Amino acid sequence: MLVTGGAGYIGSHTVRALVEAGRKVVVLDSLEYGSADSVVGAPLVAGDIADEDAVEQLCRDHDVGALVHFAAYKAVGESMEQPGRYWHNNVDKSVSLFEAVIRAGVRDVVFSSSCSVNGNPASVPVAESAAIAPESVYAETKATVERVLHWFGVTAGLRSVSLRYFNAAGASFDNRIGEDWTRALNLVPLVMKSILLDDHPLTMFGTDYDTPDGTCIRDYIHVVDLADAHVRALAALFADAVPQRATAVNVGTGVGTSVRELIDRAEQVTGRPVPCEVGPRRAGDPAATYADPSLAHSLLGWEARHGIDDILATAYAWHSKTA
Ligand SMILES: NC(=O)c1ccc[n+]([C@@H]2O[C@H](COP(=O)([O-])OP(=O)(O)OC[C@H]3O[C@@H](n4cnc5c(N)ncnc54)[C@H](O)[C@@H]3O)[C@@H](O)[C@H]2O)c1
Repeated sequence: MLVTGGAGYIGSHTVRALVEAGRKVVVLDSLEYGSADSVVGAPLVAGDIADEDAVEQLCRDHDVGALVHFAAYKAVGESMEQPGRYWHNNVDKSVSLFEAVIRAGVRDVVFSSSCSVNGNPASVPVAESAAIAPESVYAETKATVERVLHWFGVTAGLRSVSLRYFNAAGASFDNRIGEDWTRALNLVPLVMKSILLDDHPLTMFGTDYDTPDGTCIRDYIHVVDLADAHVRALAALFADAVPQRATAVNVGTGVGTSVRELIDRAEQVTGRPVPCEVGPRRAGDPAATYADPSLAHSLLGWEARHGIDDILATAYAWHSKTA
């Protein structure tokens, strides 16, 4: 199968999981982000997903029958400053990629979507039926590609599962691969920076939310569990066990953790203080969001095996090595 963006954070963990599950994998990544060193056990081709002729040939050369599509830009704030860049890379180039793989005979697709398609959800836990209400260009690109996949299902018979990830975090348990924190804006790598680097205190954006301790609540999903969801989504597609041509599935633990709780657990797990300060709320941040993962359970036979302590322990080990 073809894995785009397989040199990136979630893609590289998924490549390992697919190879361990006995799948034949080829990775396509521009290496604009991500790293060749992160690709373990599969060939890596450096190139752009929009190079249709090269993608088609790559699929034919490697006898590709399925696509796992991670390649995208992912910074929410940047997407509001450079929207064209996001529409182009995340949407236009996905369309080119789908055209090329369809020509090469690919039938099954797993796509990296995001819980951000639901914006500020009206209620929690969030089910797949929740309103699509993106609050950023980035989130809208994910919602749009989900629709593009629906229409390629209708017009070309493509069968797809869009996995809507909640907050991916953690690193591999053997400490071989993990997240590059250079550009990371997510809480776990920022907590690790505050612990491991001098003068990098963590900012808590808002402590006056309508939550039990006043800080935002999110659903942190271990990247190894997330990788496993892709293995299972492909197996379900291959087994014709996915009832619709385009299906969205939430991938989260179903457990919400507040910013303060995460800081407290980080101090317990690492035995180190988390220097932090209080800042103002950020626009568009929902007070609380966590998944209703029941469809992932019933359709994919998937459930999260690792909790917040595993996330923090593996992230700490990884960032201690690379700091
Ligand atoms: N990290 C999260 O918490 C999170 C949450 C929800 C959804 N997602 C989505 O999951 C996917 C993977 O995220 P990640 O955290 O691993 O990001 P990442 O930046 O680590 O990986 C993305 C990879 O895609 C490659 N890429 C980007 N554009 C490309 C192009 N046009 N052609 C070829 N390669 C290209 C990059 O070089 C990079 O290696 C993305 O689609 C992201 O939007 C991530």
